[in-house]
Amino acid sequence: MTKMLRAATLQSQSSETLDPQNWDDIRAQGHRMLDDMLDYVANIRERSVWKPIPDEVRARFHAKLPLEPSDLAEVYQEFTDFIVPYATGNVHPGFMGWVHGGGTAVGMLAEMLAAGLNANLGGRDHIPIEVERQIVEWTRSMFGFPVGASGIFVTGTSMANLMAVLVARTTALGQFVRQRGLRDEGASLTAYTSTAAHGCIAKAMDIAGFGSDALRCIEADRSHRIDVAALRARIASDRNAGLKPFLVVGSAGTVDIGAIDDLKALSALCREEELWFHVDGAYGALAVLSPEHAPRLAGLESADSIALDFHKWGQVPYDAGFLIVRDGDRHRQTFSAPAAYLRRETRGLAAGSPWPCDLGPDLSRGFRALKTWFTLKTYGTEKLGAMIARTCALAGYLEKRVLAEPRLELLAPVQLNIVCFRYRAANANKINGDIVVDIQESGIAAPSTTVLDGQLAIRAAIVNHRTDTSDLDALISAVLDFGARAVSASGGRDDQNG
Ligand SMILES: Cc1ncc(COP(=O)(O)O)c(C=O)c1O
Repeated sequence: MTKMLRAATLQSQSSETLDPQNWDDIRAQGHRMLDDMLDYVANIRERSVWKPIPDEVRARFHAKLPLEPSDLAEVYQEFTDFIVPYATGNVHPGFMGWVHGGGTAVGMLAEMLAAGLNANLGGRDHIPIEVERQIVEWTRSMFGFPVGASGIFVTGTSMANLMAVLVARTTALGQFVRQRGLRDEGASLTAYTSTAAHGCIAKAMDIAGFGSDALRCIEADRSHRIDVAALRARIASDRNAGLKPFLVVGSAGTVDIGAIDDLKALSALCREEELWFHVDGAYGALAVLSPEHAPRLAGLESADSIALDFHKWGQVPYDAGFLIVRDGDRHRQTFSAPAAYLRRETRGLAAGSPWPCDLGPDLSRGFRALKTWFTLKTYGTEKLGAMIARTCALAGYLEKRVLAEPRLELLAPVQLNIVCFRYRAANANKINGDIVVDIQESGIAAPSTTVLDGQLAIRAAIVNHRTDTSDLDALISAVLDFGARAVSASGGRDDQNG
């Protein structure tokens, strides 16, 4: 091929970039999308919380790989018709299932800006990494951690808990564990948490190679707080049996009912026993922003590491999990790994070491920090703290409504923002399971379920900043209504005595 011919071929391919042929068209389309999405959030109350997905809609997402291009406006129409109406529902104030944040318009706009910059936060010297470091610094000050602490954004608390287990493992066994594996010494390590802890901690022990049996789930009291005396006894008996306790995981807001372990007592025990003290603060840790609730987290400042999600109570759009580690050196020793193609320099784009890829398993990483930075700056921590306190007050309102209604029964003390209750009925587990599904399908609200002492509970986790008393009133009415219907459909009777 002659030089000229090659140039001509390349030139004809310049129209093959993925940039729009007409920027004015995409600008107009983009403005429509932005307006529609702002309208979606602004008018979310007019929609069902959630809708069952019709078979024909689901079938649309089993299409063949698209070989040919499509018009953006047509693809967007498909999004509008078939994706928007069948989303999770957690933007809606009636969403109270599991523990989901509601997101904000600010976070949404920041996410768009981050996608425009398309920054890769694995490493290198650019301002997006300084934005992430700024959040590390702010998080450090929120929790009273010392200078030298390190932190990193991850998908969510499941990942942050796994990484904390790995930091604790490297601390217990030394850095050689990274080459040699756990071997006999690692096989005798044991970790501790409570029966009320989230399942991702057992999963972390499994993935880290210890096996979930190496996690001792210590009994919790009636308020779902770990029994510290029982923990102490189990550590002693494991030591007597030749095992090597290395890690205690406390909970700041258990997933079932929002219980907060006695973090002060756990921290003192860990210092005494020389154990790594990690706190799963997935959603509860951000209660430090509320002056009213922060004292309940006393002891958190002494943790060796904390996992939390800005996408829950922080209302940052998914996903924005975070791990903070008191001793940044230990954090780096667990994950940093030299590679020729990731060579560091003292100037140029490859400067700025250590990089975030030295603090976790990911190399390519998105700009989660930007939506968090926008959220913290735009609202300020006082307003976020007040919002968190308000969701707890709303849980108190719901608790009162449950206690005042003889057909309902409270199943656990309300400690933060989660209310577990049930409709009294002879076949209560079946009836309450049906009630929850019926309410979800009605689109009125979206509670979820959990099982407490063998009793199926309707679980309302009030995390969404848009939720109001009217949403809780609607939930109560729906529970009473669907409860009565479920009981009469089963030919049964209400059971006012449980
Ligand atoms: C206490 C607790 N830990 C861990 C998790 C898991 O967090 P993520 O879903 O962000 O992985 C949750 C989720 O709700 C939780 O409530």
